Amino acid sequence: MKVGFIGTGSMGSLLLDAFIYSDAIHPKQLFVSNRSVPKLHHLSERHEGLHVCQSNVETVKNSHVIFICVKPLQFEAVIQEIQDHIRPEQLLVSITSPIQLYHLENNLCCKVAKVIPSVTHKVNSGSSLVMYGSRLNDEDRLLLQNLLSHISKPVEINELQARIFSDFSSCGPAFISFFLTKWIDAAVEMTGVDREQLTCLTSEMILGTGRLLTQAELTPLQLQQLVAVPGGITAQALAQLNHSLDGAFHNLITTTHNKYKEDLQKLDQSLGQHETNRPQY
Ligand SMILES: NC(=O)c1ccc[n+]([C@@H]2O[C@H](COP(=O)([O-])OP(=O)(O)OC[C@H]3O[C@@H](n4cnc5c(N)ncnc54)[C@H](OP(=O)(O)O)[C@@H]3O)[C@@H](O)[C@H]2O)c1
Repeated sequence: MKVGFIGTGSMGSLLLDAFIYSDAIHPKQLFVSNRSVPKLHHLSERHEGLHVCQSNVETVKNSHVIFICVKPLQFEAVIQEIQDHIRPEQLLVSITSPIQLYHLENNLCCKVAKVIPSVTHKVNSGSSLVMYGSRLNDEDRLLLQNLLSHISKPVEINELQARIFSDFSSCGPAFISFFLTKWIDAAVEMTGVDREQLTCLTSEMILGTGRLLTQAELTPLQLQQLVAVPGGITAQALAQLNHSLDGAFHNLITTTHNKYKEDLQKLDQSLGQHETNRPQY
């Protein structure tokens, strides 16, 4: 199987690296193109045998499965460039959350799917959110699922809920890291503790917490209750945190969903709408 990548920025190159390092794909099977050329040279230096293409059309012509890893408003140009060259038997995978399957099926004759990846795939972990278009058969679904399972835990979701699931699986690492940064900043400022030592200790704590939630199958609430004995220091601090964060998560979800709606409206204007299948919030 030959796999194409259009867009080798932050997420495109991360996915490509992860597929190669996990032995899911050999560099010789890969065909890549990007708007600016230096990024392609860095990739080909890193992965001997990888095919650097001169255009997105060349990538499409050479690949069975094609990942499109550009930003939402860069999508229209890519579709216009490739739409007369893509073939019905090919599978195109978009990793962009506001791009809807109907945008792709309206404009391309091939099979289409949507996958929302996560930065956590760099270390072969985290969930990839998978949504299949109407033209895929069981074999296509299995192929995509097998590929993704080398670097992640693929989870099929309803496209109408793609934004809220992405908030957790894809934006989540940034939100959690923001919380940790603020916490560490406060600790250094208030106590003079060594930042590097505290950061190492915090990273180990997060790894252990992740294992308790996955391997030991604790829920986040059960984990809190395990640590926060009534009347203790943790319980008192959690009550304070609960008060301080009042409304913060509702605001966060409103913000991500408003930005998503904004992008979706622009994409509907440029790529066409599908009134009966429009995401509801
Ligand atoms: N970052 C994440 O954690 C994450 C997670 C899940 C999903 N995503 C999604 O992944 C998509 C890409 O995000 P990113 O963070 O990787 O952005 P990025 O670093 O800006 O990468 C986008 C790449 O697309 C290239 N590009 C733009 N127009 C092109 C065209 N017409 N033909 C070929 N290549 C083109 C850009 O080339 P230049 O070098 O010229 O700029 C750039 O290298 C976004 O839709 C984002 O929502 C990202």
